[in-house]
Amino acid sequence: MSWELLLWLLALGALLLLVVQLLRFLRADGDLTLLWAEWQGRRPEWELTDMVVWVTGASSGIGEELVYQLSKLGVSLVLSARRVSELERVKRRCLENGNLKGKDILVLPLDLTNRSSHEAATKAVLQEFGKIDILVNNGGRSQRSLFVDTNLDVYEELIELNYLGTLSLTKCVLPHMIERKQGKIITVNSLMGIIAAPLATGYCASKHALRGFFNSLRAELAAYPGITVSNICPGPVQSNIVKNALTEEISKPIENSGDQSYKMATSRCVRLMLISMANDLKEVWIAEQPFLLVAYLGQYMPTFALWLTSKLGKRRIENFKNGVDADSSYFKPLKRKHN
Ligand SMILES: NC(=O)c1ccc[n+]([C@@H]2O[C@H](COP(=O)([O-])OP(=O)(O)OC[C@H]3O[C@@H](n4cnc5c(N)ncnc54)[C@H](OP(=O)(O)O)[C@@H]3O)[C@@H](O)[C@H]2O)c1
Repeated sequence: MSWELLLWLLALGALLLLVVQLLRFLRADGDLTLLWAEWQGRRPEWELTDMVVWVTGASSGIGEELVYQLSKLGVSLVLSARRVSELERVKRRCLENGNLKGKDILVLPLDLTNRSSHEAATKAVLQEFGKIDILVNNGGRSQRSLFVDTNLDVYEELIELNYLGTLSLTKCVLPHMIERKQGKIITVNSLMGIIAAPLATGYCASKHALRGFFNSLRAELAAYPGITVSNICPGPVQSNIVKNALTEEISKPIENSGDQSYKMATSRCVRLMLISMANDLKEVWIAEQPFLLVAYLGQYMPTFALWLTSKLGKRRIENFKNGVDADSSYFKPLKRKHN
């Protein structure tokens, strides 16, 4: 075989590989490190057993699904949120899964905005189980309103809940993890903590703040390699997030939570979260296309991504004003596996 032919074959092979990778990326629903860990990494079923896991926002959506999947791994669970009746319902379903007994699940009502209660809540968990292996900072609320129409109280509430509430609980749990020189602090952030969208200025700000905080905290904890800090950044996922979103006024409920069916299945999002937790990934992006692509563009071509955000944002605002869920009419995912 001549050198020329060999070079042509090599070039063709490289091109094919590139096309295959591009096609795989178009079907991806997580960042590349996460999908690699799903393929080759440690399994949650091996890594997360016998742990004490404290999940905030366990009464609904992502947190609820997370505790169902965790309950199958044989962990001890602490379920927190404000609505006790919903937490009790979730506990009953966890027990129906069969792997846990009543004593393995503690229902611990907690309002993230009531920071003075966090120390006592942490003591209650330690008294019950003697340790906290994983804290999942998941509780939070989103926003659907334009800045010009929105009362500043709404911004205060979003920062109190999503940002300061999360920091406060972390501050209570961290000394215990430092003492043990081990632990996982998992925070459910959002793609809105990386990129941005209209109608969610306060939400985006709170999630950007969280991401900056935890990336900096991770660096501060470098002396404790057994303590890991992870940001989980999902795109749109099926849950009650829009129904519970804050609007122009603190007490004004959202009028139309719209069609949520185009979003990623909660079970898939949570499975990828467990993979991230098992592999101690520092930050993961969990989203179907085109959301994932926009996040990558935001990293590599920020000006273009911000231009695109404004273009698509006009449509998002129109949808919102017409009572349609902000993204549903133009952000149809390119595929719907795992549903
Ligand atoms: N779904 C998505 O598309 C999406 C995308 C990216 C990121 N996220 C993030 O995922 C997390 C979970 O949201 P979700 O989608 O599962 O929404 P969800 O179904 O509305 O659940 C939110 C949870 O947060 C709790 N919560 C709200 N206010 C609270 C407070 N003051 N104190 C304690 N808990 C409180 C709620 O429980 P109570 O009402 O009983 O207190 C509920 O359990 C949030 O941090 C959200 O920002 C969601």
